[in-house]
Amino acid sequence: MTETTLHAPLAPISPWTRVVMVDADAIGDVAADVVAMIAPDGVLGVATGSSPLALYAALIRRRAEGLATEGLRLFALDEYVGLDASDPRSYAAYVRSVIARPLGIPAENVRVPRGSTGADGAAYERAIAAEGGVDVQIVGIGRNGHIGFNEPGSDAETRTRVVELDESTRRANAEHFDGDLSRVPTHAMTQGVATILSARRIVLVASGAAKAAALRAALTGPITPDNPASFLQRHPDVTVVADPDALREHR
Ligand code: GLP
Repeated sequence: MTETTLHAPLAPISPWTRVVMVDADAIGDVAADVVAMIAPDGVLGVATGSSPLALYAALIRRRAEGLATEGLRLFALDEYVGLDASDPRSYAAYVRSVIARPLGIPAENVRVPRGSTGADGAAYERAIAAEGGVDVQIVGIGRNGHIGFNEPGSDAETRTRVVELDESTRRANAEHFDGDLSRVPTHAMTQGVATILSARRIVLVASGAAKAAALRAALTGPITPDNPASFLQRHPDVTVVADPDALREHR
């Protein structure tokens, strides 16, 4: 049985944000409870990175136990500019191999931002709208407070667009490029802050001390483009699932 500890948030966190502190090995299951509510055919916004891996693993276990996931429609948060979808380091490849395939979701139900122009971003926004919007959006958080690839400086009105990546973000992601910073793409296409906030429900997953400062600023600091995750305080339905290390600055 999973033991969850409800964390008493510090002011001025929004009263509608739930912060659930659980041991790192329970994050996936607790977050999966929220996602499972939109099965069998909801629209799921998916994040990449290491934070949501346990959540996807939990969904895959639940599928084996009978949860119908094949009809879910997926929209990814972001993608590197310049990496083909066939490149194993692309987020398209991650979404295919880590999420869609093991959950039995057909390729036509999977969208990942692609391209490098304003028109490509606008087309992605239209694709989300055509599916009726996102029911549950999963997000991780970068060490600098980014959500998707909305780096510090991204404001509340931003929509899907091409962004330049911070060097700190490129360094953090260099491990996927043989540790070679020069191989990490300099730009990405990402859903904007406004796009993310349009989801009906948001689940933020975070673990580890490296996220503690960004998470504290996001949840209890001022709402500011300096920490794009802080805009989540304006959303009416956010569940934060994080381990004690990520929440250590709250205690
Ligand atoms: C990446 C992704 C984000 C992700 C974040 C944290 O750069 N663009 O969507 O949430 O950084 O990644 P991780 O969970 O691996 O720490």
